Amino acid sequence: MLNKKVKSIILAAGKGTRMKSELPKVLHTMFNKPLLGYVLDAVNKTGYINEHFVIVGHEAEKVEKYVKENYENAKCILQSPQLGTGDAVNKATPYLKDFDGYVIVIYGDTPLITAETITNFIEFHENNHADLTVMSAIFENPKNYGRIIRDKNNKFIAIIEEKDVTPEQKAVKEINAGIYCINWKTVSDAFNHLHNNNAQGEYYLTDIVKWAVEKNLNVQSYILKNNDEIFGINSKIHLAQATKILNKKSIEKFMEEGVQIIDPDSTYISPETTIGPDTIILPNVYITGKNTIGKNCKIGPFSHVRDGAIIGNNVRIGNFVEIKKSIIKDNTNVSHLSYIGDSELGSHVNIGAGTITANYNPISKIKSKTIIKDGANTGSNSVIVAPVTINEMASIAAGSIITKDVEAYSLAITRSPLKIFSNWVKKKIEQLSGGNK
Ligand code: UD1
Ligand code: CA
Repeated sequence: MLNKKVKSIILAAGKGTRMKSELPKVLHTMFNKPLLGYVLDAVNKTGYINEHFVIVGHEAEKVEKYVKENYENAKCILQSPQLGTGDAVNKATPYLKDFDGYVIVIYGDTPLITAETITNFIEFHENNHADLTVMSAIFENPKNYGRIIRDKNNKFIAIIEEKDVTPEQKAVKEINAGIYCINWKTVSDAFNHLHNNNAQGEYYLTDIVKWAVEKNLNVQSYILKNNDEIFGINSKIHLAQATKILNKKSIEKFMEEGVQIIDPDSTYISPETTIGPDTIILPNVYITGKNTIGKNCKIGPFSHVRDGAIIGNNVRIGNFVEIKKSIIKDNTNVSHLSYIGDSELGSHVNIGAGTITANYNPISKIKSKTIIKDGANTGSNSVIVAPVTINEMASIAAGSIITKDVEAYSLAITRSPLKIFSNWVKKKIEQLSGGNK
């Protein structure tokens, strides 16, 4: 428990010019989840913060829509025009009048930050009775970051942006990670004193350090141990690099929990998936979104689990199979070339190669459900047109198109009768060779 309440301000108003995209930077995704979602989840998971202010500007409606639909405890505040990070935070001040607690400020483009680090950071701030704590990190290549400036006694006195540094300051390797813990009551007045008299003509949030030092307040820096956590996304190259880092971490966690992953380099599994021990993931598997996969399953090679899959134990999901928003119970096989979407598969179901659950009507745009009960099987190349139920132990003949419910233990078949024309090929060949004479 902390002595004070904590609120957060997440800066997400910038355009992200270097992304070269119509989509605002913070809505770019890793494993289908926007960067902003990672930051909001991390601050939420600390358990200390119950209210968030998201500063929006560029494509504000889109960002606001995402926040509203996914985070009840977050409120969007418009910053237009975008006059700098200090101006952005200042937009939240009317909502924090008389707030006697800590405010965490964090940038919306640092998706790898963890709840653990933010928790430790807040506790460090409180334990040190600080007025202002800045997260810093030591970077071999500090290019583009604000530098942490210390005096002769090693006291932290300012942050200077790369564009404003002296050559001597440029060599400093301790950088501003961009996460701040602010004692709102003692430090918020700083926002009334920011100026834009700098190389970028912006109101810099970082200038609150100098202000607080001049006021003799207790200013601390918290040095981050794992630099990956504050990796900021500014381009699509960064986005791919961050996805790799996130994936590596998630894959290692799965392996520690007893999942066998044959080729970590070609396997992508979203961190929000859970997988039971002794499940084997073969190469080139791509799993996004939130899924639960049981133990002793075999997934892949080349399978795609898209989101919302709940898969039991001893299930086989084979090559070129796509699963979306479906429940698959124990001991069921979906081995090759099939699509299972919006479906419920019982246990001991066998899905033949190339079975498609046709769940989407592109005219009505309605998605419907397929239910396939225990022990049922589908022959190769069957199309199951939802909404439809295939009851226990029913059998679907290969190549059938199923548009009605199938009773338990029955066979369903839609197939034009097979005709065989004896010697048809032989006659053709004779005809052709006769014509050539
Ligand atoms: C900032 C810091 C720098 C630090 C670095 C860490 C400042 C002045 N500099 O620089 O010291 O090392 O982050 O990554 O704070 N934003 C707004 N409104 C604005 C401007 C920016 O909401 O008017 C948002 C952006 O959308 C972005 C974040 O603030 O999410 C950071 O802005 P950015 O311009 O990327 O700052 P940096 O130059 O990276
Ligand atoms: Ca940045």
